Amino acid sequence: MKIYSSRFNIRTGRTMSGRILVAYASKNGSTAEIAQAIGKELLRAGTSVDVIEMKTVTTLAGYDAVVIGAPLYMGSIMGDMGKFTGRYCSELAKLPVAAFAVGVAPKDPKPGACEAAMGALTKACGQVAPVASVLFSGKLDPAKVNFVMRKFMEMAKIPSGDFRDWDAIAAWARGLPAVLKV
Ligand SMILES: Cc1cc2nc3c(=O)[nH]c(=O)nc-3n(C[C@H](O)[C@H](O)[C@H](O)COP(=O)(O)O)c2cc1C
Repeated sequence: MKIYSSRFNIRTGRTMSGRILVAYASKNGSTAEIAQAIGKELLRAGTSVDVIEMKTVTTLAGYDAVVIGAPLYMGSIMGDMGKFTGRYCSELAKLPVAAFAVGVAPKDPKPGACEAAMGALTKACGQVAPVASVLFSGKLDPAKVNFVMRKFMEMAKIPSGDFRDWDAIAAWARGLPAVLKV
């Protein structure tokens, strides 16, 4: 879905400096909401932004930078991201790319959970080398998983709840124009 397309920011009165694609994958919607929040912050920063589910992206033509984000499931980044970075490998190699992962790893008391999550993000990026990468706390609603998975989560002591830190997400997004050089 294209949410912003103007080259002129009505709120700030500034001419936009670059066009950024925020491409996301999401199974249960929490990463989609994070992607929208990043898009809003980038718009505030004076860039032109499209926030689009990555499996529906048809071209990277016209973009000056790309932000990719997807959630973790069972230790891996949702498969759509690997497909996206594979499909657009040559285009992404010529653009500045920032990547974010979403999961409950930051709230997981098990040592090494965040490092493993970041490793999964690097793997999903494939040949693409992001100029910035981050892991955000996500939202895990036990009501949205089946009985077997719920029992597994209880046994593995996987934390549930909405852990999204909107201030941290906005702060990361505000820094993107500088690191993406747009
Ligand atoms: C079945 C299942 C497996 C999950 N596995 C992981 C995981 O391995 N690592 C992690 O950090 N979070 C894991 N999570 C948490 C999700 O990444 C988190 O709920 C995320 O916000 C979901 O994003 P979405 O709503 O966009 O699909 C898992 C959640 C579920 C339901």
